[in-house]
Amino acid sequence: MENFDFYNPVNILFGKGKIAEINKHIPKDAKILMTYGGGSIKKNGVYNQVMDALKGYKIVEFGGIEPNPRFETLMKAVEVVKSEKIDFLLAVGGGSVVDGTKFIAAATYFEGDAWDILAKRAPITKAVDLGAVLTLAATGSEMNNGGVVTKAATKEKIPFSNPLLFPKFSVLDPETTYSLPKRQLTNGVVDAFVHVMEQYLTYPVNSPVQDRFAEGILLTLLEEGPKELASDTPNYERRANLMWAATMALNGLIGMGVKSDWATHMIGHELTAFHGIDHAVTLAIVLPGLLTHLKEKRGEKLLQYAERVWNITEGTDEEKKTLAIEKTEAFFNQVGIATRLSDHNVGQDSINTIAKRFEEKGYVGMLPDVEVKDVAKILQARL
Ligand code: NZQ
Ligand code: ZN
Repeated sequence: MENFDFYNPVNILFGKGKIAEINKHIPKDAKILMTYGGGSIKKNGVYNQVMDALKGYKIVEFGGIEPNPRFETLMKAVEVVKSEKIDFLLAVGGGSVVDGTKFIAAATYFEGDAWDILAKRAPITKAVDLGAVLTLAATGSEMNNGGVVTKAATKEKIPFSNPLLFPKFSVLDPETTYSLPKRQLTNGVVDAFVHVMEQYLTYPVNSPVQDRFAEGILLTLLEEGPKELASDTPNYERRANLMWAATMALNGLIGMGVKSDWATHMIGHELTAFHGIDHAVTLAIVLPGLLTHLKEKRGEKLLQYAERVWNITEGTDEEKKTLAIEKTEAFFNQVGIATRLSDHNVGQDSINTIAKRFEEKGYVGMLPDVEVKDVAKILQARL
């Protein structure tokens, strides 16, 4: 196992009715900016629960944070934070609202053009305190210190992170997810699945604890996801397990001491930036191509995945690896995601544009086994 520093200060309030407790975690004299998305929280009762819990606080609202939150919108919120002298941000929504709120927290105190936080990785030295009420289990943003922001004007989607951006607390009430459309429930299962794969399916470093945690999360998603998607009514226990699986997939724990990749995400971000394809869908398109490309180099971990996650015990090593990749893609299809670029009207022109963007950037993920020149090849195999 490699050396690591593990730090995660997020206070998790998990379960039914936990929104009522957020006032224990926000200073009584705080002036709050409550951020949210396109309005789902007003239809499913979450907005009212939050307002009830915050009786007595001064609250300003900022709605309209879009999926794949936009820099342009978030900078409007930064103006509100400054003019209203806000001292606590409360994100109520999915990963986009939580990510967007982290960016608002960082941009408020940033001197200069806040886009540099993303484009130039300019250091963040101070941030507004924030908390989250999560309504969509997917990204892990509720228990990590990162986010992804898009500049609509230039179609750039860029990640950022800083220890100052861990939420002070996050509420995970599985009942808030009952109103999710199937498409978003599917997205959550697949995003969490691929988060695990980015940290697990790389190279062995003798890390049985991380590996078995990772396999446990994958198996939970495989078992509970399709059942919940097939069900006409939401099941609390299953939602709870899916929600916790998604949080555990990206709160840092399984990534400690192992080799993480994130190439699938980096390529996927470009598909969202240029074509507006849902984040999880881009991952389901790219991952089978990436694994096929790395079938030899990452063979050892791929075999472990085949045997322990898919229970593939017969055949040659080559057959086992191929079958594991096929089963992974079949799972994405089973939960309703079309996994070919052609299903989403993406063709060779776009592959060329994306490949050029990686050439300019000079790298793909965090491991040297996916090179800039490989991006076009991986995507071409997904046409
Ligand atoms: O905007 P509203 O009206 O709230 O509707 C949202 C949105 O349309 C809706 N929704 C959320 N909760 C709902 C609900 N609808 C009904 N009932 C509910 N309970 O779902 C739609 C999608 O929401 P969004 O927040 O965009 O989804 P998700 O949580 O999947 O977040 C995706 C974003 O997170 C980033 C992605 O790149 C993408 O921008 N990621 C962040 C990560 C992180 N911070 O660590 C890691 C991930 O890899 C990911 O990249
Ligand atoms: Zn993701």
